[in-house]
Amino acid sequence: MGEKREQWGSRFGFLMAAAGSAIGLGNIWRFPYVTGKFGGAAFLAFYLLIVFTVGISITIAEWAIGRAGKSDSVGSFRRLGGGFWTIVGWFGFISALVILSYYSVIAGWIIYYVKFAFSGLIGSIQTSASEDVFFMALIKSPKLCIALHLINMLLVVGITIKGISSGIEKICKILMPGLFVILLVLVARSLTLAGSIEGVKFYLIPDFSKLGIDGMLAAAGQAFFSLSLAMGIAITYGSYLGKDEKITGLARTVVELDTLVAFLAGLVIFPACIATGIVPNAGAGLTFITLPRVFTQMPFGKVFELAFFLLFFIAAITSAIALFEVVVAYGIDQLKMNRKVSSIVMGIVVFALGTPSALAETPLVPKIFGKGFLDAVDFVINNWLMPVTAIFICIFVGWFWSKGAKDEVTNEGKIPFKLYPVWLFICRFVAPILLTVLLISGGKW
Ligand code: PHE
Repeated sequence: MGEKREQWGSRFGFLMAAAGSAIGLGNIWRFPYVTGKFGGAAFLAFYLLIVFTVGISITIAEWAIGRAGKSDSVGSFRRLGGGFWTIVGWFGFISALVILSYYSVIAGWIIYYVKFAFSGLIGSIQTSASEDVFFMALIKSPKLCIALHLINMLLVVGITIKGISSGIEKICKILMPGLFVILLVLVARSLTLAGSIEGVKFYLIPDFSKLGIDGMLAAAGQAFFSLSLAMGIAITYGSYLGKDEKITGLARTVVELDTLVAFLAGLVIFPACIATGIVPNAGAGLTFITLPRVFTQMPFGKVFELAFFLLFFIAAITSAIALFEVVVAYGIDQLKMNRKVSSIVMGIVVFALGTPSALAETPLVPKIFGKGFLDAVDFVINNWLMPVTAIFICIFVGWFWSKGAKDEVTNEGKIPFKLYPVWLFICRFVAPILLTVLLISGGKW
């Protein structure tokens, strides 16, 4: 047990890395849309309720498991629970591995847009193709998608190979503040466009009649996804956390930062879309087709387009790094590789696993029961495996390891955990029930 484990170099560094793992594509391309769709501030209020009760509780639980287990997702569950619980650790590892394989493909597309926006800025490229034609040409090009996926994985491996404090932490300490600055600039641009106020109204005016059960479930699903829960990430990052850090306070900050970024992204997207008369949507279509169209309508649009894709890239790569660390830590802790070997071997594995997703829109990869490969994998992980894993994590900390969790969170009784009874109640009852409802309602193919 007395092994020397890598550690975060500073509290700020950990916060930036953990916030980076949570702040991702979902904050930007999904949160604003679901908020607008399900009644603006009404949805937001419910979302806040979920993240600050259930979301924060599971974040605390996962960090405690990692810090007490002193190992990767599989090793931590094996050490603290053993037997069946080791399988739950496996679920986390598998989710991270599989999600990263397609997350990297999407990050690759973003790299292409960054490059394209940059070329547009210096005036070396002029395209007459419309935005959807441009995007379709990209995702239907096998060579390009594979090359971009490769470039992204090389970046991710290059950072992770340097270790926790001199690799992941160092880069997140630069990128995350950069993300906030870019986001604020974009909010300012968006809110100063003529007619933008209509967008703000659409985004935020509360309409409780639109919330409904569907809206509540969407809020819960978005909360788990946004905080990157049940993917082994928080367990793995928690395992590098110093024994004297205050888990509850850190969890609160990360949840706040994640929510703030999602909220601000909506203040960029809705005002900009509505001011330029373009209908906002969600997902890949929003980012790769709709927004580029919006940027062409505004003065100095190319500058803001570049800024936006940089922001988007930061959001994606810091999440990709976190996912990759789950996998690399498995190689180090379970397969006894050193960091360098694990990073390279796992990098190759993820790259190979991602190729069907990179080729999903080409005729080379068949559709799976009507869904494209990338969408199908995303669905299985997020609608089936994530809720199941999260349910087991709650049952583990709520019913089997609650005393251990309490000791861990209070640093062996040294600091208070006043809300422990509330936390326990959430882990024992509220979260498992909510997750079961999510699983049932979202599980239909
Ligand atoms: N939390 C990220 C987002 O909001 C997505 C993500 C989920 C990243 C799971 C990694 C693991 O986009």
